[in-house]
Amino acid sequence: MQTNPLWFKDAIFYELNVRAFADGNGDGHGDFIGLTQRVDYLVDLGVDCVWLLPFYPSPLRDDGYDVSDYRNIAPLFGTLDDFKTAVEALHQRGIRVIIDLVINHTSEQHPWFIESRSSLDNPKRNWYVWSDTDQKYQETRIIFLDTEGSNWTFDPITREYYWHRFYREQPDLNFDNPEVQEELLDVMRFWLRLGIDGFRVDAVPYLFEREGTNCENLSETHEYIRRMRATIKAEYPECILLAEANQWPQELIPYLEDDEFDMAFHFPLMPRLFMGVRKEDRADIVHILEQTPAIPERTQWCVFLRNHDELTLEMVTEEQRQWMWQEYAPETRMRLNLGIRRRLAPLLENHKGKILLLHAIMFGLPGSPILYYGDEIGMGDNIWLRDRNGVRTPMQWDSSAHAGFSTAESTYEPVIDDPVYGYHRVNVETQASDPDSLLNMLRHYIRVRRNQPALGRGSFKMIHPENQSVFAFERYYEDPSGHQTRVLVVANLSGSQQQVVLTDLENCLGTTPYDLLTDAVFEPIQTTIYTIDLEPYRCLWLQLHVEGDLMKEATSENLYENR
Ligand code: BGC
Repeated sequence: MQTNPLWFKDAIFYELNVRAFADGNGDGHGDFIGLTQRVDYLVDLGVDCVWLLPFYPSPLRDDGYDVSDYRNIAPLFGTLDDFKTAVEALHQRGIRVIIDLVINHTSEQHPWFIESRSSLDNPKRNWYVWSDTDQKYQETRIIFLDTEGSNWTFDPITREYYWHRFYREQPDLNFDNPEVQEELLDVMRFWLRLGIDGFRVDAVPYLFEREGTNCENLSETHEYIRRMRATIKAEYPECILLAEANQWPQELIPYLEDDEFDMAFHFPLMPRLFMGVRKEDRADIVHILEQTPAIPERTQWCVFLRNHDELTLEMVTEEQRQWMWQEYAPETRMRLNLGIRRRLAPLLENHKGKILLLHAIMFGLPGSPILYYGDEIGMGDNIWLRDRNGVRTPMQWDSSAHAGFSTAESTYEPVIDDPVYGYHRVNVETQASDPDSLLNMLRHYIRVRRNQPALGRGSFKMIHPENQSVFAFERYYEDPSGHQTRVLVVANLSGSQQQVVLTDLENCLGTTPYDLLTDAVFEPIQTTIYTIDLEPYRCLWLQLHVEGDLMKEATSENLYENR
């Protein structure tokens, strides 16, 4: 693997649940052996880094986000040796690996909590947040609204309450305790020694509690993150820290400044992309991007369309939330907490044009994109399964039994088998052999994206054409050798043909736009006003070439081959 501390800025990420990806030992659960067998698929897809959801021993109350041993692998998913083999196999093919680090809380079955709750004077008592009243920290919101009525749960053994921001089976660790702080740094060292490339740090804002606050984003939390970064970067400079902090941009920025995280998910942007395509209007997308301050050079946003959780509507207004629910989750069963528990393809009515449009926009925006396993083939969901399990069903590899995911008689959750999204129709094998399939189109987008440093690293400037159905922006990058690249991203959010008039193109005069996605060459830009006709849901990535460059660039073999 080449050394490059800023590797994440140009990377395409792929979020993958080991349990759902491939079953290597035929027990109906995905595992590390299965993942190792499917590395070729990830290489062909073109991703640079996988993010592995929690795979630690766990009672699976919260699908692994309830850890009962931080230094092991759940037996269902394999052994530490299987883990090492998978990481090595991925590394050998140039794919990095980041893992989920769930430190805000443990499972109630973690030996630390079992000890902690055993008596008031147990040495581990102070590893969790206990109180003789449930009236503390009343300004703190409840996250799992559908199941939890309070952030406190009464424990009959010692007759006190313990604090938890998620399920009651997930007691929060007490970060005011230096032993807890130290122990979790050591957990990080443990996995770094096994060769991983970074952590997606779960539930970051909630580490500390203070009376009179909403117990989110406290200065103590920032201080601990700085310590975490300093500790691990000293030993592993290329290891990255990605923040899961579902917050407004102004709350997120401090996590990227002051030597804390390398990356943070841009949560508020995501639902607005869905608003844009449904309303056929760019206003909401533009509005949130205007509220997103610049971030330091050494950091990067993580942009995404869907993930393993509900499509969160925490970072929208009440009116927008109601609108999103009405438009995208008409049935109550599709809703969960403050969100929508559906996958990308069903959300977009299985409309390939819309799915590609949102990917093209996401890949064009500042930030490194993350794809959620299965969305690249347009997998469906199963809203009859509990919690978020409906978007975590087995990967659909082919049309054989259990979609080629497992040879077992039954799988941990049923494979999607409905007439539209079922594995007979929607699977990797079928799509791999169809050049126009969603999978092959996205492979192409990924390939093009990876060769465009302007999209990973370039500056970002929105363009405001009169036509509100068109969302357009410019990315500009000058590489260390002085080579300049300018890419105009022009997206038609609507289902009808649109004409867009771009103005203020002083910087682009004399150039010839070339669509990186389709290889189409446009008329040269000769005046500061330039008109483009856009097909429904079409997104163009127009690289602007000065005369003479075009042929050279269009035929050059590129970075992608030399990962
Ligand atoms: C994860 C969820 C999980 C929660 C509690 C989140 O942010 O993405 O899947 O339930 O943290 O660990």
